[in-house]
Amino acid sequence: MNTIDLEKEFQRKLDAEEKIEPKDWMPDDYRKTLIRQISQHAHSEIVGMLPEGNWLTRAPSLRRKVAALAKVQDEAGHGLYLYSACETLGVERDELLEQLHTGKAKYSSIFNYPTLTWADMGAIGWLVDGAAIMNQVPLCRCSYGPYARAMVRVCKEESFHQRQGYEIMLTLCNGTPEQKAMAQDALNRWWWPSIMMFGPNDADSPHTAQSMQWKIKRFTNDELRQRFIDATVPQADILGIKIPDPDLKWNEETKHYDFGSIDWDEFWAVVKGNGPCNKERLAARNKAHDNGAWVREAALAYTEKKRKKTAA
Ligand SMILES: [Fe+2]
Ligand SMILES: [Fe+2]
Repeated sequence: MNTIDLEKEFQRKLDAEEKIEPKDWMPDDYRKTLIRQISQHAHSEIVGMLPEGNWLTRAPSLRRKVAALAKVQDEAGHGLYLYSACETLGVERDELLEQLHTGKAKYSSIFNYPTLTWADMGAIGWLVDGAAIMNQVPLCRCSYGPYARAMVRVCKEESFHQRQGYEIMLTLCNGTPEQKAMAQDALNRWWWPSIMMFGPNDADSPHTAQSMQWKIKRFTNDELRQRFIDATVPQADILGIKIPDPDLKWNEETKHYDFGSIDWDEFWAVVKGNGPCNKERLAARNKAHDNGAWVREAALAYTEKKRKKTAA
């Protein structure tokens, strides 16, 4: 097929809601966009283990520790599915990791905030995993097959994360006044960074229109942010704690919550590497990667040994 026919076939598949698969022809920019998005997503899963790893040794009970361990392990699994999905686009995992470790690649800025108290484990599960679900459920219908399929399992696991976080919040809010104050403090610190997770406003998001056309994205950043806020406000009411936004109020006309303006200067500062924990996170990732060098070497040596044996 010539290029025009290939482009037509690609468009036909998009229009028919058929998946684009690794061996199919695709425009270079579609491939590049997916590599950027999927690798950033994979990095976010892996770096996302760090803030919570901080609390694994200090979980208040065996039950909480087991749930937290399971959750952090799930995030490692999400990273692995996503690196694999990304590799189907013709990029090497080493290259992706190199980009992360040198600070060239981005990951979700939310993970550059510190986890100061146990209540942060609740707030992260409730808000951060909750926002991730809002973002990722539509990605199960992404036009690129391997990404869409990876998202199905990821989303099921994210919903367990959200519930375990909310349950921590519920327990604290039904506890002593000190525990409820901890929950409120965690909400105060995580609310704004969580709603920044949906990315810049649509007007300042240059890739959105093209990604929607390619059916990589199904909703814009602002649409998803609004959905998240609408879903989360009643949950805060049940907890009996207050979202730290004086402008937040139900709008009877739009049937949505209106909310205050987001501090985009803070968002961009964190994205550009100047958040409270950017340096710490990158250092932890690099250290873990360096410490794991012997495991990778041993795995390669074992594969080589097996290959020689089979050849003989
Ligand atoms: Fe995840
Ligand atoms: Fe999660």
